[in-house]
Amino acid sequence: MIYTLNTTDNYHKNDLDSLGWELTVCNALYPEGSPCRKVLQSNKSFGVLLCHFLDNLLSWKEISNILEIGGGMGNLMHDFLSLHPQLKATLLDISPQLLAKQKELLSAFAVSFWEKDILQIETDTLLPFDLVIMNENLGDLPTLVANPAPGELSEETLSSLERAGYFIKRYRLSPAKNENINIGAWEVLEKLCQAGIKHIYLGEHSCEAIAPEYLKPYQYFVPSGNPEKISLRGHDEYTIKFSYLQKIAELFNYKIVRGPFTDFLKPEFSDKVRTAMQSVVPYSAEQEIIQQFIYDIHKYEYLFLTAS
Ligand SMILES: C[S@@+](CC[C@H](N)C(=O)[O-])C[C@H]1O[C@@H](n2cnc3c(N)ncnc32)[C@H](O)[C@@H]1O
Repeated sequence: MIYTLNTTDNYHKNDLDSLGWELTVCNALYPEGSPCRKVLQSNKSFGVLLCHFLDNLLSWKEISNILEIGGGMGNLMHDFLSLHPQLKATLLDISPQLLAKQKELLSAFAVSFWEKDILQIETDTLLPFDLVIMNENLGDLPTLVANPAPGELSEETLSSLERAGYFIKRYRLSPAKNENINIGAWEVLEKLCQAGIKHIYLGEHSCEAIAPEYLKPYQYFVPSGNPEKISLRGHDEYTIKFSYLQKIAELFNYKIVRGPFTDFLKPEFSDKVRTAMQSVVPYSAEQEIIQQFIYDIHKYEYLFLTAS
């Protein structure tokens, strides 16, 4: 099998000027009047709901230093710091444009900002952090894309393939012949585990999510088990195979909680939502937003890891 390496670093460093067109679940829930909030049992933003969910999984008293990698517009961190102003926060991002947005939104808080590619960070730099958050950005990291057409392999691809070989052996991963490989996500998770970060939250579009029974009358999807391409403005990203991340964390003896975003973004199937979901062709922009949002919160998964 021939592979090509899909990367987005150049796009994020040089071309990205707004996240507006790439509506993350987190951003979709941020505005108070967002139609997406009406789909949930609790009319709150993503960061607030995630923070409350984490109340059950960690003790905030034990968290001093928090690192968010790839924080986009800064919405999630704004929610976290509003609820826990004692946290010492650092935001690391490859995009100078998005860091500027984060600085603006978080100007009331004492936050450190690092313009860096997480793949270039030394493990030692991560040692001070008690909690690391990565939401909806693992899919941006390099992916080895299986490509049946013969062609030249770049040096970058060859070195990533070599690294993939190392991961497959060390963590007993077993990608099929035609499977795309989330090599960037593997690298970052290994780095976080090697640094012994006490708590790690990862959330992203999954290629293994299973539609629950209650959703089947409205929407049906089956897990492909193979990271899928998502084409966006100026770049492609890939869904994540969480079971491999789980295996990496397991080898470091992390305690693992895994589930769909609906564990903390609990949907409320009101008449309005049901009507939107039943429409084969959405009748309005709001119905289309509801359909997409319901799909997303069932297709996205999280991993919450705690060092033992
Ligand atoms: C799709 S946005 C997600 C933003 C935010 N976490 C959210 O949930 O709305 C991806 C974020 O990851 C950042 N990013 C992408 N690749 C990165 C890398 N290699 N190192 C650090 N940040 C990166 C982007 O600049 C952007 O802030």
